Amino acid sequence: MTAPAQLIHPADPADAPWWRSAVIYQVYPRSFADANGDGIGDLPGITSRLEHLAELGVDALWLSPFYLSPQADAGYDVADYRTVDPVFGTLDDADALLHKADGLGLRVIVDLVPNHTSDEHEWFRAALKSVPGSPERNRYMFRDGVGDEPPNDWKSVFGGGAWQRVTEANGRPGQWYLHLFDVKQPDLNWANPEVHQEFESILRFWLDRGVAGFRIDVAHGLVKAPGLPPYGAEHELLHGAEEDRPSPPYWDQDGVHEIYRAWRRIIDEYDGDRVLVAEAWVEPADRLARYLRPDELHQSFNFPYLVTPWRAADLRAVITESLQATDAVGAPTTWVLSNHDLVRHATRFGYPAGTRLPNGVGADDPQPDAALGLRRARAATLVMLALPGSAYLYQGEELGLPEHTSMPDDVRQDPTWLRSQHRGRDGCRVPIPWQGDAPSYGFGPGPLTWLPQPAAWREHALDAQHDVAGSTYETYRAALHLRREHSLGGGSLTWLAGWADDVLALVNGPVLVLANLGAAPVELAKGTEVLLASGALVSVDDVVSVPQDVTVWARRAAIA
Ligand code: NOJ
Repeated sequence: MTAPAQLIHPADPADAPWWRSAVIYQVYPRSFADANGDGIGDLPGITSRLEHLAELGVDALWLSPFYLSPQADAGYDVADYRTVDPVFGTLDDADALLHKADGLGLRVIVDLVPNHTSDEHEWFRAALKSVPGSPERNRYMFRDGVGDEPPNDWKSVFGGGAWQRVTEANGRPGQWYLHLFDVKQPDLNWANPEVHQEFESILRFWLDRGVAGFRIDVAHGLVKAPGLPPYGAEHELLHGAEEDRPSPPYWDQDGVHEIYRAWRRIIDEYDGDRVLVAEAWVEPADRLARYLRPDELHQSFNFPYLVTPWRAADLRAVITESLQATDAVGAPTTWVLSNHDLVRHATRFGYPAGTRLPNGVGADDPQPDAALGLRRARAATLVMLALPGSAYLYQGEELGLPEHTSMPDDVRQDPTWLRSQHRGRDGCRVPIPWQGDAPSYGFGPGPLTWLPQPAAWREHALDAQHDVAGSTYETYRAALHLRREHSLGGGSLTWLAGWADDVLALVNGPVLVLANLGAAPVELAKGTEVLLASGALVSVDDVVSVPQDVTVWARRAAIA
């Protein structure tokens, strides 16, 4: 060793609340498991597969929306926040899911969508029937246009303008309403106290049913800058802030924090350490950390980590910055590699490091190197699961699922595809394969799936990997077991010096982690006890080494 090791983050106390170190598994209800055979996943399907999650070894699940919705944005367009959409089941099915999860020791977090409702929500229907300036219109962002032009230049995240003109009762074109997402997702007016009261009541409705907390959709977007000033720049689809652009006047406004303080007071009234998680595309890290001050939200997704290329220096930097920013406000850092909005990491890593993140991939786009992508994805996952803090997994990543990169365009359902030139998110939302030789690979009882599954799903199916040593599934399972056994989630992080620049070398408690991102093999000291490796190690003349794009967990004592 040529330089001293550097402690970046100290361990949590032993009695820290569960969510500081939890592994939370995202279930996308449409695509997890289909009990009734209509080709769309549902709550009874999820309930029937909960043993899988318990066996995998996660602490909690987060369910994407299953509320009444016309499904213009796969449920992120909510028509009634207290009703289950018939496509997913009933309120009794939700209660049964919560009950069974509880029995298996799994907590359940649900999605809350407070930035916008569906245009089929009763509030919006009433707003359309009411006159400009009425209390009904004041629940949303209605404005007069400038002549025949929209009120300002804001763009929809899904492409096109963010304003839609309505026809008034007199049959004439009238006011415009704001929709930062699809035209069927009108933005709510968070300057109106009635909106606050309604969402506080929705929080209580689900807390009373026993949910462990909420993932807050577009948490950085609820409050808009006073006067709705023009933005004057193009913004990136789905991304909130880009380093080289000014922050738009609809993201990360200071007023959002008062909302979260009020929600925190509510959630703190309930027992069981319930949790509020922000989906907030806010940079830099210290700006995002403001959402995590002690009286606000508990944690937020770490998107800067998700978008970091597979390069050691970049990873070291983002991990260090993330821990320092959240430590400054006493919150845990979170880690995530995939979700239902972004190209799956087994595919992203199949492109040369630094390739600009595609917003969906189609058959005529450059195709990834699937084997390289999976190899790196497994290595990246072992880095992530060794880090202190909480980690989010997206359904199917434990099976090594790639993006569906050759889906025919005519079956795509993402409004991003319909509103812009981007393929969008259908490729990461394909129904999960459970059994290689069953119709729909066991997703449902019959052959129907709302999006087509690629033929390669057969080899990814759970039954092709279960009890198969070294499979992606068994690697995840072993990692989660070791993570728990060695309290890595509540642990510490020390960077080790003296390794090649393209090697990530760290210790967390008793575990040494080495990720080799470079071409030269990394030799392990004689006698090293390897606990887990993301790929095959190389053994020559009694010397074991870690090849490129492999991560190893070893017992630290053998090295020190
Ligand atoms: C973020 C969600 O993750 C995404 O799926 C959705 O389309 C938008 N918010 C709008 O609700």
